[in-house]
Amino acid sequence: MANVVVVGSQWGDEGKGKIVDWLSERADVVVRYQGGHNAGHTLVIDGVSYKLALLPSGLVRGGKLSVIGNGVVVDPHHFVAEVDKLRGQGVEITPENLRIAENAPLILSLHRELDAIREGSNTGLRIGTTKRGIGPAYEDKVGRRAIRVVDLADTDTLMPKIERLLSHHNALRRGMGLEEISADAMFEELTSVAADILPFVDQVWRLLDEKRRAGARILFEGAQGALLDNDHGTYPFVTSSNTVAGQAAAGSGMGPGAVDYVLGITKAYTTRVGEGPFPTELDDEIGEYLGVTGKEWGVNTGRKRRCGWFDAVIVRQTVKTSGINGIALTKLDVLDGLKEIKICVGYELDGQKIDYLPASMGAQAGVKPIYETLEGWSETTAGARSWAELPAQAVKYVRYIEELIGAPVAMLSTSPERLDTILVHDPFQD
Ligand code: IMP
Repeated sequence: MANVVVVGSQWGDEGKGKIVDWLSERADVVVRYQGGHNAGHTLVIDGVSYKLALLPSGLVRGGKLSVIGNGVVVDPHHFVAEVDKLRGQGVEITPENLRIAENAPLILSLHRELDAIREGSNTGLRIGTTKRGIGPAYEDKVGRRAIRVVDLADTDTLMPKIERLLSHHNALRRGMGLEEISADAMFEELTSVAADILPFVDQVWRLLDEKRRAGARILFEGAQGALLDNDHGTYPFVTSSNTVAGQAAAGSGMGPGAVDYVLGITKAYTTRVGEGPFPTELDDEIGEYLGVTGKEWGVNTGRKRRCGWFDAVIVRQTVKTSGINGIALTKLDVLDGLKEIKICVGYELDGQKIDYLPASMGAQAGVKPIYETLEGWSETTAGARSWAELPAQAVKYVRYIEELIGAPVAMLSTSPERLDTILVHDPFQD
């Protein structure tokens, strides 16, 4: 039985929600392994729309176990709010169907505040973060001073941990002219949420090992996209976690052999939110058209996404850095009716042709896309459920993408509805 990792192959917002939902119906366990509530997944089930940020998508389907792995940063206040919201929509959430890794670090109010202050500051680099405290929380994890979920269970040792964390943060806060935070106030904050979280806490590494041995199908649900990866993305305009598929193992406590198939979710054009290089960005009426037609604004933040042509260079790179076996191509219907469609097949940098995204920030900002132009199609592809329903030019476009990125299309999504999907290869049957 194959275990599948789903990753975004561009800058996030590729339409992972629908594909993850499609796959989670076939999975026994759904695991989040990186990021936090900076993610935004929309699932439409029987006409009802569910918006998830932190919780794994498996929760909205009955009979699945959902797991928040150690690689995720957990905002306890947000956790409580999202659980309440979903319960309000009739979704059952209990320790029977949701577990949180005991070694997951917490996002605290001071992280959110620091994220917002840095983003609002006029000095330094603006990343355009979601201001959810993701970066500062990961900094504390790597700095070995984070408060982790398991710490909530041991109030006797919590205070020294808080003091250690605050000795770092209060020094920063003094430097920024902010009021210091008292250890008692933080103790109060943490103990007030402990009872809401602790019932869900588990040894996730052990649980997943048991499930795997018992033959369960595990779906690893990635958030953001590979170009936002802290190592392989458009650094420093990235998120603070590893978003590539390899993180599925480390972020859940499994070995690399636990992953059998990597599915890269790929939008038929390109979008990006926040700052940073975007070689194929369209600052014209076509970019505007893609944004409006594709409803390109953030699920949770409401931010407008930047739009541009499909960039085969970055997806080809992601196919390699994430070991993508096949892609799920989404939102092809947004291109319906365009007379011509361009695809970026390479870049020009300082008069040289290159076939990769360079690592340096300056070079990334300087690359110029080399386009090939394909004829568009006037028919609609929305709702197509077989190749035969697609216009010839649309099939040609899809086939050319496969050739350029070096990976086959395993699934083609033609609308937000789950059944509007053309299945070429079921990733779980690998
Ligand atoms: P952070 O993850 O909030 O620190 O934001 C860092 C960068 O990642 C910013 O450019 C955000 O816009 C981007 N980002 C974070 N989460 C998502 C997501 O779910 N979709 C798309 N972009 C995201």
